Amino acid sequence: MADRAPARARILGTGSCVPDNVVTNFDLAKRVDTSDEWIQERTGIRERRIALPGVRTSELCEDAARRALAAAGVEPAELDLVVVATATPDMPFPSTACFLQERLGIRGQMAFDVTAACTGFLYGLTIADQFVSTGKARRALVIGAELLSRIIDWEDRGTCVLFGDGAGAVVLGPSEAQDRGILATRMAADGSFWSILNLPGGGTAHPTTLETVGAGLHKVKMHGNEVFKVAVRSLHEMAEAVLAEAGLDGRDLSLFIPHQANRRIIDAVSKRLGVPVDKVYVNVDRFGNTSSASIPIALDEVVRAGRLSPGDTVLLDAFGGGVTYGAALLRW
Ligand code: UT7
Repeated sequence: MADRAPARARILGTGSCVPDNVVTNFDLAKRVDTSDEWIQERTGIRERRIALPGVRTSELCEDAARRALAAAGVEPAELDLVVVATATPDMPFPSTACFLQERLGIRGQMAFDVTAACTGFLYGLTIADQFVSTGKARRALVIGAELLSRIIDWEDRGTCVLFGDGAGAVVLGPSEAQDRGILATRMAADGSFWSILNLPGGGTAHPTTLETVGAGLHKVKMHGNEVFKVAVRSLHEMAEAVLAEAGLDGRDLSLFIPHQANRRIIDAVSKRLGVPVDKVYVNVDRFGNTSSASIPIALDEVVRAGRLSPGDTVLLDAFGGGVTYGAALLRW
């Protein structure tokens, strides 16, 4: 692993990948008692991507990673650190980061998974930022990747309409200019809210048995209303914290990229922060909630659309099961 002079860490390239298979609200209305109208009105979601059987999370990681590496002009072998944020790993262990390493044909660097649900990508970014900015790593790959379709209860209309599959990646390296890169990050968690969003089975609390599977403990459980309230509060709190650290407020942002869980959550937080509607990026209508992949997919879309110029100020803000929450402020 490299050991060089401290510098601010910067995103050198982005990449993403979503499965081709589109599932619309109308498709879901054939499986559960729901409607396109209800889903759009309550969540803003129109459709989501669902991977076909046999696909693994590490495959999505590889596609997103290769695109980010190409955009950054970095070879896989140059990586010093590989971090994969996921709640849907290929297996409980080894880590999906290790499977990804093998797929990329590299070895020797530190590689591990981060478990922070929908906030996982920002947790990973924060960790990688520490390594890059202190000179301990020169090239770091951070990925958020999920196959949520594998852990959703497709008979529960309260959750199955919300989620989608996908992956997004960034390559980090030291910035040549001290005023460009990751300006501030703030990560937090509050385990007292664990019960509002979780997957209870398959761990040591409820090791997998015929009974746990029969009781559906291997599927996501959520109290949507409570999640909604905690989400708005924590997204707002984290955003304010990083903006204050940089001496900025919501009106100074060039772009706000919040976790894409629900259009109403995004609107409520943007309003509290005073960010104008045209500065808020939304793609939840096309992908639903892809958990840890949602922010890096959105960021990659923005970058590839040419919406960011050097010097732009970008706020990333996430919330997820745990509960976990966090924000990162970037100067592009
Ligand atoms: O990354 C974090 C992950 N989670 C989230 O972000 C979830 C945050 N929460 C939410 O997005 C919202 O709470 C939901 C979209 C999940 C639900 O919206 P809501 O406005 O909070 O609805 P609700 O849970 O209060 O349910 C209202 C009604 C209920 O019927 P009754 O009891 O009033 O007769 C539900 O059974 O809507 C019913 N309902 C549905 N109806 C049609 C729940 N899901 C559906 C559905 N289609 N898919």
